[in-house]
Amino acid sequence: RFIKSLTTSPSSHIVRRGYASEAVPERKVTVLGAAGGIGQPLSLLMKLNPLVSNLALYDIANTPGVAADVSHINTRSEVVGYASDAELGKALEGADVVIIPAGVPRKPGMTRDDLFNINAGIVKGLCEAIAKHCPNALVNMISNPVNSTVPIAAEVFKKAGTYDPKRLFGVTTLDVVRAKTFYAGKAMVPVAEVNVPVVGGHAGITILPLFSQATPKANLSDEVITALTKRTQDGGTEVVEAKAGKGSATLSMAYAGAIFADACLKGLNGVPDVIECSFVQSTVTELPFFASRVRLGKNGVEEVLGLGPLSDFEKEGLEKLKPELKSSIEKGIKFATHYL
Ligand code: NAD
Ligand code: LMR
Repeated sequence: RFIKSLTTSPSSHIVRRGYASEAVPERKVTVLGAAGGIGQPLSLLMKLNPLVSNLALYDIANTPGVAADVSHINTRSEVVGYASDAELGKALEGADVVIIPAGVPRKPGMTRDDLFNINAGIVKGLCEAIAKHCPNALVNMISNPVNSTVPIAAEVFKKAGTYDPKRLFGVTTLDVVRAKTFYAGKAMVPVAEVNVPVVGGHAGITILPLFSQATPKANLSDEVITALTKRTQDGGTEVVEAKAGKGSATLSMAYAGAIFADACLKGLNGVPDVIECSFVQSTVTELPFFASRVRLGKNGVEEVLGLGPLSDFEKEGLEKLKPELKSSIEKGIKFATHYL
């Protein structure tokens, strides 16, 4: 499972340092829904990630073209496309990380919950295959509504006897990406230095950015904080409306998904102090799943971090989001228990 990397050419007569002592683990990443709006740029970004040695691209439509295209890029990973249900097992076999952007996106006027009826079934089927073919993989759930699809995945894995809460993640990184961008614009600080935790879930008011903990610090008024919070909560809708019927965020989501998958790979590889926000099984609140900062390690979630000190505005937001998040989680569990 390990390859060695050369620091310099062994044929060099001037500088001959030999082989690096550091080993680079082989890691297989599988993208389910790889030919979609998110799947294509996400597959590209994972092909650019030097931590990936094998990249499996699966979709029920248009996979061969995407896989052939991405495979010509001269980076480390070997790319294989899998195009039908019959090939799903092979796509998943040996995967360390499975990223799921399979499913339908919103159109203007829809909520993420309106996607439930179609996407719940897609996610259920894909998770059954994960339980069978790569039960130890870290699962990065992108398909909406994340507040329900993550509980569905958990129920599927429980039924299969493979559930490990440390290995199941709802990807909420795009909320963090947005919060950082919007905060930097108002705080007039370099965006690359910004950190903002975003907690709760991934839909409307369940998305709770904690701007009181944002760094670098800035003295923003209550009105600006309220507006930043709303823009972060409505970020997905802003893109859905701008795309006017042609789907939802794909490029920024691919970026966010690539950041989160990279964090998972770093954690698996033993890099210390890898922390990202994610929607995971949690005891941070009374809800069974909740997004908060999570420390990633060799087994997936090493530690679910607490909320830290909240402003009164954030405390209010936290109480307001709980009923909606609770009902979305319960809807997912109910669906799964009914159909399993
Ligand atoms: P898309 O329609 O462009 O692509 C979806 C892809 O999934 C298609 O290529 C389709 O063929 C494929 N697919 C459908 N059923 C499948 C199955 N059973 N197995 C494998 N592939 C299957 O949609 P998109 O814009 O890429 O969005 C995908 C999902 O991601 C949507 O549910 C969207 O709401 C969600 N999303 C989540 C976030 C987030 O922050 N978590 C952000 C943006 C979008
Ligand atoms: C997003 O936040 O952009 C995604 O969840 C897609 C959507 O429907 O808004």
